[in-house]
Amino acid sequence: MRVRRCTHLLLEPRERVSFGLAAILRGKAEVDSEVAWVALAAHLDQAVAVDAAECALLGAFSARRWQEPSEQQCASPAVLRLLELGLLLGDQPEHARHLARDQAMCDAHWWPLAAVAHRHSRWQGVDSVGDMHARGLVTANDLRRNFGAPPPAVQPRDGSYAPLPRQADDAFDALLGRRATCRNFDRDRPLPLPSLARLLQRTVMAQATVEAAPDTVFLKKHVPSGGGLHPVETYLLVQNVEGLASGFYHYHPVEHALLALPSPPAAELARLACTMLSGQEWFADAPAMLVLAPRFERCFWKYRNHAKAYRAVLLDVGHVSQALYLCATEAGLGAFVTAAINEADTDQALGLDGVRQGAVAIFGVGWRAVRQQTTEFDPAHRVWG
Ligand SMILES: Cc1cc2nc3c(=O)[nH]c(=O)nc-3n(C[C@H](O)[C@H](O)[C@H](O)COP(=O)(O)O)c2cc1C
Repeated sequence: MRVRRCTHLLLEPRERVSFGLAAILRGKAEVDSEVAWVALAAHLDQAVAVDAAECALLGAFSARRWQEPSEQQCASPAVLRLLELGLLLGDQPEHARHLARDQAMCDAHWWPLAAVAHRHSRWQGVDSVGDMHARGLVTANDLRRNFGAPPPAVQPRDGSYAPLPRQADDAFDALLGRRATCRNFDRDRPLPLPSLARLLQRTVMAQATVEAAPDTVFLKKHVPSGGGLHPVETYLLVQNVEGLASGFYHYHPVEHALLALPSPPAAELARLACTMLSGQEWFADAPAMLVLAPRFERCFWKYRNHAKAYRAVLLDVGHVSQALYLCATEAGLGAFVTAAINEADTDQALGLDGVRQGAVAIFGVGWRAVRQQTTEFDPAHRVWG
């Protein structure tokens, strides 16, 4: 058997803090802390506890070169455990699953720290709303009570600021001012298909294509993109759009067309929408949602194992989101974006592997309800009068 270490691995000395029971019984609240090694591998969904000897073993194996361990090493419980966990990879059939996952990360050219951060910040089955209530962190006052005051909203530097001329507002300023994150959708009013189509046309549709070679094509869109690669793909979760069956779709940015994907019945789709949104029911009844799911491998084709590449992809998603917000506002529609999503559940529903391509944010759009049940941030009363 040949063995190598997995490719993207971070060993963290993680500290667990607890109140010492013996001290509490003596009437003293003393803090115990325990440091243990945790292995964060980019091809594994969970962090795993390892001991110091296992850490040393991981350091002794190359991630690039296969090694033939000695018979003694092969029989060692530490080597066997690391092989079973997938932190060491073997070339035997029983190791094939871990090896394939590790290879997929390599083939997509992830920068190691970004790979680990991406994998271990993906959620599955998280109820962010339940957690927020359980921790008593719902309102601004809750946050302040628990965390103290935040850093100031504005932090002037020392010195004297030169005032800039203020320009009179025009129609574009009025449009900017009407944008507010919508948390109250009218569930009885369907979104007209032309409105959805125009939103896509203005934001994620290719306005032109440029062919460097027949297999090397670049798109021009109304939104900018790091490296001009436009890795962000758009999937739709349609719940209430006139003339469009509810379900999942993929948007083709050159054809400006939708492909229906395998989808559950409407009731199950509604439950799935809420799961994808980690329990944020104020967003879950939006007539249409756009899952912004970059193809990381397209960006990393140019920016190979690059420290800035993942950042550029996330910024791309932000630019798409802002363009969507403004176009929706211009059309008189309400819109939201959220990064508090269960990426793993979303990727699974859309058939994405999360490595070459995966959901990063969900945008929603539809008509605003007449009554505001969930608070929106509209201090100047531009939306709610
Ligand atoms: C990256 C990003 C993530 C967000 N995530 C959430 C979210 O999880 N839940 C939510 O209710 N709003 C979310 N929002 C909306 C913000 O709460 C909102 O933009 C902010 O409160 C300012 O309000 P405004 O958009 O109406 O100006 C998000 C916005 C951005 C840009």
